[in-house]
Amino acid sequence: MTLVIRPAVSPDLDELVAIENECFTYANWQAADFLKHDCQLAEVDGKIAGFLVSREILPGEREILNLAVSRAFRRQGVASALIQHELKRHPGEFFLEVRESNLAAQELYRKFGFVEIGRRPQYYQAPPETAIVMKMK
Ligand SMILES: CC(C)(COP(=O)(O)OP(=O)(O)OC[C@H]1O[C@@H](n2cnc3c(N)ncnc32)[C@H](O)[C@@H]1OP(=O)(O)O)[C@@H](O)C(=O)NCCC(=O)NCCS
Repeated sequence: MTLVIRPAVSPDLDELVAIENECFTYANWQAADFLKHDCQLAEVDGKIAGFLVSREILPGEREILNLAVSRAFRRQGVASALIQHELKRHPGEFFLEVRESNLAAQELYRKFGFVEIGRRPQYYQAPPETAIVMKMK
């Protein structure tokens, strides 16, 4: 398996939206949203397998805004590679929010040293759900 991580560009957007729609029951990212921020994608043997979108909040502080891996490529280290790549490119503090019920993602983030720092009740809509706020470093 050859895994390459590279910045997303406009011709990738249809595939990124397809992964977003596949991964989230209530997907809310449109094509235009991906390139508003820093979007890195993972290609496995030349096929787009997943993406990670982040933004700078302040110098030395970033937020992971979106992360998803297509079902066919899960549990093969794709999300881990995207996170590793992100942490290497941007040393510093990271924040993110994750649905309380999303135990898979919480487990993944914990492996990278993220810890819960708070909860935001009713943060998500459709369906309404509490967000767990996690921080690394
Ligand atoms: C969460 C998600 C990004 C993980 O992607 P992935 O490429 O399968 O993750 P990895 O293969 O790098 O997994 C690394 C570790 O994370 C944890 N993990 C990943 N998926 C898991 C699952 N379904 N259940 C429990 N732990 C899980 C495991 O500890 C795993 O290590 P292991 O495979 O050695 O046990 C993927 O399941 C996904 O896209 N889910 C839907 C979208 C989503 O929830 N995004 C996050 C929003 S905050």
